Amino acid sequence: MVSVNSPLFNGNEKKYLNECIDTGWISSEGPFIKRFEDDMSSYVGRKYATACSSGSAAIDIAVKTLGLEKYDEVIMPTFTIISCAQSLIKQGIRPVLIDSHLDTFNMVVEDIEVKITPKTKAIMIVHIFGLSVDIDPILELAKKYNLKIIEDAAEMHGQEYKGKKCGSFGDISIFSFYPNKHITTGEGGMVLTDDEELHKRANGYRNLCFTSERFIHEDLGWNYRMTNMQAAIGVAQIEQIDKIVEKKRHIGKSYNRLLKDIEILNLPIVKTDFCENIYWVYAITLKDDCKFTAKELMVKLSKFKIGTRPFFYPMHKQPVFNKMGLFLNDDLPNSDKLYEKGFYIPSGLALSNEDMLEVSTAIHKILS
Ligand SMILES: Cc1ncc(COP(=O)(O)O)c(C=O)c1O
Repeated sequence: MVSVNSPLFNGNEKKYLNECIDTGWISSEGPFIKRFEDDMSSYVGRKYATACSSGSAAIDIAVKTLGLEKYDEVIMPTFTIISCAQSLIKQGIRPVLIDSHLDTFNMVVEDIEVKITPKTKAIMIVHIFGLSVDIDPILELAKKYNLKIIEDAAEMHGQEYKGKKCGSFGDISIFSFYPNKHITTGEGGMVLTDDEELHKRANGYRNLCFTSERFIHEDLGWNYRMTNMQAAIGVAQIEQIDKIVEKKRHIGKSYNRLLKDIEILNLPIVKTDFCENIYWVYAITLKDDCKFTAKELMVKLSKFKIGTRPFFYPMHKQPVFNKMGLFLNDDLPNSDKLYEKGFYIPSGLALSNEDMLEVSTAIHKILS
């Protein structure tokens, strides 16, 4: 089986993990937490970082930290993971959805301004699959309408927008360290900001809003702490970030070469005016004249023992939200089409050139 993701640990991961076990520092109190936070904030170019238990937890913390209130509106893409929308909804905030481009998979920035109302308080930028969103026009809108910006860089470790690291934009940003990410801690996330006050609040929400007087609480948070063991792996991983990005780009470019002759496939864009793809995943869409849907092709690939994943199911179509009466009139056809036509193929860091050849041979056989 060529699995859709295969993480690689060939740095100091074991050494640092052993240090946790040998010293007994296994909880969130251990020294690797601060080290991982410092490493990430200096890598990304942010002043402060709060390590936490997942990317979804990081979004919860970021939304809460910004002080958004019930019935406020936040503009965000429909084509993303549920973590973005559910965090807002659980906190009583209304997501206002916009569509995404068929080729970059990223939110259509030109669609944002018409959705701004007096209730709009923030824009959530979410970078999808490997290319950065065009951030500058969003920052301009935020300035014009006095809006906050949350940047979801969960998939963007090592990506840059016009030479500046993704995860460094807006009021607050987040990363995920799930095993399919360029840097993993098994499970994990991080909230970053340049604002000391926001940072203090984020730290509070991560840790049940403990105050200096133990067990006296002025506010409600979560136990979203990261363990020292997770952070130890993270420190070892970030030491290798440049090599990791290089390997992911090697995977992306190799597939581009291997699959370029299949005319009914749209392959990922290599670069835009402001960034070069880091191929978080190798995302393919089927052209309209392909006789298969993405789902059918994925079933066929599984018979060749090739792992795949579908694209995100858009937020405006999610049964859970529709049952709440949300997004029922939203018409966002590109995202519907992306779900129908899109899937991604194995692109984990442990993938070999032979694996890629096997994947490409199977795709050629099915589509020839
Ligand atoms: C864009 C985006 N945001 C948030 C998350 C949530 O991260 P996690 O799985 O660590 O909760 C993901 C996960 O893949 C993601 O792709």
